[in-house]
Amino acid sequence: MSQDAFRLISPNGTELELPVRTGTIGPEVIDVAKLYKEQGVFTYDPGFVSTGSCESDITYIDGEQGVLMYRGYPVEQLAAKSSFIEVSYLLLHGNLPTTSELEKFEGTIRRHTMLNEGMLNFFKGFRYDAHPMAMLSAVVGSMSAYYHSEMDASNPDHRDIFAHRILAKLPTIAAAAYKLNTGQPFIYPRNDLNYCQNFLHMLFAVPAEPYEIDEVAAEALDLLFILHADHEQNCSTSTVRMAGSSGANPYSAIAAGISALWGPAHGGANEAVLKMLEEIGDVSQIKKYVDKAKDKSDSFRLMGFGHRVYKNFDPRATIIRDMCHKILQRLDRKDTPLFDLAQELEQVALKDDYFIEKNLYPNVDFYSGIIYRALGIPTSMFTVMFALGRSVGWASHWREMISDPAGKIARPRQLYTGPAQRDYTPIEKR
Ligand code: ACO
Repeated sequence: MSQDAFRLISPNGTELELPVRTGTIGPEVIDVAKLYKEQGVFTYDPGFVSTGSCESDITYIDGEQGVLMYRGYPVEQLAAKSSFIEVSYLLLHGNLPTTSELEKFEGTIRRHTMLNEGMLNFFKGFRYDAHPMAMLSAVVGSMSAYYHSEMDASNPDHRDIFAHRILAKLPTIAAAAYKLNTGQPFIYPRNDLNYCQNFLHMLFAVPAEPYEIDEVAAEALDLLFILHADHEQNCSTSTVRMAGSSGANPYSAIAAGISALWGPAHGGANEAVLKMLEEIGDVSQIKKYVDKAKDKSDSFRLMGFGHRVYKNFDPRATIIRDMCHKILQRLDRKDTPLFDLAQELEQVALKDDYFIEKNLYPNVDFYSGIIYRALGIPTSMFTVMFALGRSVGWASHWREMISDPAGKIARPRQLYTGPAQRDYTPIEKR
């Protein structure tokens, strides 16, 4: 095999030569784009297990080594030294900002936090117990109704403004959804506060008394948002790219991504982990639940375990587990039954042959919910928190996709297994 081609022998003995493409790092990629045109065959890969859908220079993951890098920077370094706003600039613009670039960017995000007052009326239409993810998706989708005439995807300024609005307004929408659930009045953003302080203020302040920002909580959220900021072509990001590839309004594409994130196999897992830990209840029950997860006749899975890409460990989970210890100590939470239970469950599963053979390790969602719970954030808001962190990843990928001159509408093919042609039978003869 030559270095830049992959050869296949077709069933009729013809030799096919497929170009091989090489990225900066990572495995080589066989380019099958011309396969159908030249050979009349499709490739088949449900769930895109072996398929690259695009070229991207935003995020790199090595699932075998547990590596995650944003624009080349290891997530561990960013988690230790950066802030979510700086990471957002990095993801959107490709490089770390200078001091003046960061100040300007942060100022812009702070000034875009308010919602059009009309948008707040949407919340009056939802039932008091509407799930905040459903509200987030619906209200973000409605941004396409507000910002359609000023959204020309071919205009780089418009693309920037879109990204700023998504980043700045999502916390306001998320907090409004929470306020609806709690029956409390909506709290307007305060632009003198930083991103996470402002979010906590909108979430927990009430007009009747002053609200003191909990700095431990603000720092913890900032770190969690950094860890969730991007994850290359995951389900929700691919959804954003796919919806956006038709030229659809990008706010609608983000709403589609939020909907995809909600599923329990994706971002919804953080909510599912907490529910699972509560159901397990006690270390004495762990074996029973681990056995259930291994039983093929039982649909139960250990939530927060396993990942499509990470087959060794999820670097985000390692950081979050360490953070759990620190946050619970700093919040002076001595009684930490759920965290103790989660650690014990992790240990039991990591020693179990089933989990070892299938390379199932805790993922980012396994411990994040325990921190959210300690910060007073209700379970139904956990996936919303994930969405806030991931919003900048979605916006970065949409921008990359829409400005790619080689970009095409995403349109996979299929292996058809339905009936071949048959003739219509009149109803009385069926
Ligand atoms: N508990 C028990 N068994 C599991 C688990 C689990 N959590 N995860 C995977 N397996 C088993 C599967 O049953 C399968 O077994 P088989 O080969 O005998 O059929 C094998 O491991 C491979 O699993 P797949 O579902 O084929 O792997 P895939 O890459 O498609 O799915 C996924 C990855 C969806 C994350 C899966 O591991 C899962 O459902 N985990 C629980 C939900 C979860 O935590 N999701 C969050 C993911 S991270 C994120 O989105 C932020």
